[in-house]
Amino acid sequence: MVPKRKLEEKDIHPLLKLIDRQNLPQHIAIIMDGNGRWAKSRGLKRIEGHKAGIEGVRAAVEASSELGIKFLTLYAFSVENWKRPQSEVRSLFELLDRYLDKEFKKIEENKIRFKAMGRLHDLPSKTKKHLSVVEEKTRDYNGLTLTLALSYGGRTEICDAVNKILDEEEKGKYKEKITDEKFREFLYCPHLPDPDLLIRTSGEYRLSNFMLWQIAYTEIIILDTLWPDFRKEHFYEAVLDYQKRERRYGGITE
Ligand code: FPP
Repeated sequence: MVPKRKLEEKDIHPLLKLIDRQNLPQHIAIIMDGNGRWAKSRGLKRIEGHKAGIEGVRAAVEASSELGIKFLTLYAFSVENWKRPQSEVRSLFELLDRYLDKEFKKIEENKIRFKAMGRLHDLPSKTKKHLSVVEEKTRDYNGLTLTLALSYGGRTEICDAVNKILDEEEKGKYKEKITDEKFREFLYCPHLPDPDLLIRTSGEYRLSNFMLWQIAYTEIIILDTLWPDFRKEHFYEAVLDYQKRERRYGGITE
C-alpha cells in the first residue's frame, strides 16, 4: 500500500521512474496462475501455493495504488474452479476471508474501493457476508477500485446478462435494440471500463473464460513467473511493455 510518509528518491524503484504517468493503463486485469505448480515444485500442498499467492496479490494492489492505476481486477476463482477438491475450495475461501480481515486496515488507509463480481450467490455464506460488508464500507472511496472475480466465468457473465435482458423484456421494460453500450449495462460491473492491459502469469497462453466481453481490444502480456513469485517489478515491467504498444482498435495509424 502507499506508505504514509513521503517516498524519498532512494525508495523509488528504478523501473517506476521509467513509467510515463501520462500513458498509464486505466484498468489492469490479472489472471493469477501457477500457485499449484509453485507448491508442487517445492514438494508442498497446493494450498501452500495459494497462501504464497497472497504476496502476489499484495504486490499488485500496492503497485496499482502507488502508480495511480484506477481499476485493478483479479481473477481469484472461476466458475470452473468448483470442480477442484472440496478441501482446496474450502481453503481458498478461508484464505480470502483472512485476507479481507488482515488487509482491511490498509484498504481503508488507501481509500481502495472494493468490489466482487461473479455468481456471488454460489459462495459460502460467511464469505458472501464478508464481501458485502467490505463493499459497503468502501463504496465511497475514490482510490483504486479493486475488483475480485469470484465464481466468475466470461460465458456465464454473458449468459446472465442475456437472461437479465430477457427478464426485462418479458416485463415490457426493455424494448430497445441491443448495442455494445446497451449490453454493457447488464454485465456484473457495468461501470468498470474495459481492461487496457491483461496480465497472465505462469506462461500459459489462454484466456480461461476471463472477461470475454470486455477484453476485445485489451493488450495482453504473458509472464513466465508463477503467481506466488509475482512482485511489483513484474507489474512495472508489464506497464512499461504496455506503454510501448500502439493501440489502433482496428483503425490505422495516421
Ligand atoms: C490459479 O493457480 C490460482 C487460483 C485458482 C486461485 C488464486 C488465489 C489466490 C492468489 C489466493 C487468494 C486470493 C485472494 C484474492 C485473497 P492454480 O491453482 O490454477 O495453479 P496451477 O495452474 O499451477 O495448478
